[in-house]
Amino acid sequence: MRVLVTGVAGFIGSNLLERLLRGGYEVTGADNLSQSDGSNLAEFAGHPHFRFEKADVRDLQAVRALARGVDAIIHLAAYKIPRYGNRCETLEVNTQGTANILRVAADGQRRVLFASTSDVYGKNPTLPFSERSDLWLGGPSIARWAYAASKIYDEHLCLAYSEERAVPVSIVRYFGSYGPKQHLTWWGGPQAVFIGCALKGKPLPIHGDGLQTRSFTYVTDTVEGTLRVLESADAVGKAVNIGNSQEISVLDLAKLIWTLAGEGAPRLEFVSYRSFAGRYEDVRRRVPDTTLARSLLGFEARVPLVEGLQATIAWQRGRVEG
Ligand SMILES: NC(=O)c1ccc[n+]([C@@H]2O[C@H](COP(=O)([O-])OP(=O)(O)OC[C@H]3O[C@@H](n4cnc5c(N)ncnc54)[C@H](O)[C@@H]3O)[C@@H](O)[C@H]2O)c1
Repeated sequence: MRVLVTGVAGFIGSNLLERLLRGGYEVTGADNLSQSDGSNLAEFAGHPHFRFEKADVRDLQAVRALARGVDAIIHLAAYKIPRYGNRCETLEVNTQGTANILRVAADGQRRVLFASTSDVYGKNPTLPFSERSDLWLGGPSIARWAYAASKIYDEHLCLAYSEERAVPVSIVRYFGSYGPKQHLTWWGGPQAVFIGCALKGKPLPIHGDGLQTRSFTYVTDTVEGTLRVLESADAVGKAVNIGNSQEISVLDLAKLIWTLAGEGAPRLEFVSYRSFAGRYEDVRRRVPDTTLARSLLGFEARVPLVEGLQATIAWQRGRVEG
């Protein structure tokens, strides 16, 4: 099977690429390198079944050219929560990029897998989040919801193309993936930041009281779930949670990371949401219902948090020292 992966130079993209090539896929990878320096792809240079193109998914002609001859498109290229004041970019990249992918897929009846996010469940207080749960967002005066809003729009577009234009689309809703090749800033999530601080002996910044919870998924599990969805005819026209249902507070995550990577008693620094630019709303608890992934795909996240963190710390230590 020949696959186009957008956002291939990013965290999940580069980990997925490794798995696809190992599985015998032929891969065209595209990325505009806006959030990557390309180093995640260094080991694949010259691979006979991999071709990289620097391209922007907002460019319809470029997407058309990239998709020529491919059977499937895995669309990962996106901007995330606009922590750094890039709300326009988040909305434009995420909506225009996905619209282009779907238009091109419709021309050739190509299989599409779209990367969505657990953030679409927003502030829904009823846990765990199942694919049938309501999506509860705050209003547009709070910039952070732009990411979830763009992904919900994209999900609608995906299902509309599936229903009205017979495009075989599936949606994966990822829950907090972490692991080697992650970004080392908040773009990469709390693990990246906490590990970086613990390795340097600096205090770990905890937003709010730290009692907000998350469910974190080691990247090999994220990748395996993605592949199962891609290869499943039963997943067409559906959204599927891909995540680990082990719940942990951000505070306990920080302490655990310090225990694994730091020295002495944990150093923590509480950061008030009021110090953020603009108003901010956090999600209090986030846990996936993984029943659908299990029944439809036989998929379950396997890597325990401690094991995943140890591997991530080993990788990040190499980056700090290298
Ligand atoms: N990592 C997670 O925990 C997580 C959780 C939920 C959803 N997701 C989704 O999974 C996907 C991949 O996430 P990731 O963590 O690997 O992110 P990432 O930022 O590491 O990778 C995204 C890649 O897309 C590229 N990109 C951005 N705009 C582009 C454009 N206009 N044209 C072409 N390329 C562009 C970036 O340069 C980057 O390399 C995203 O769609 C994200 O929303 C990730």
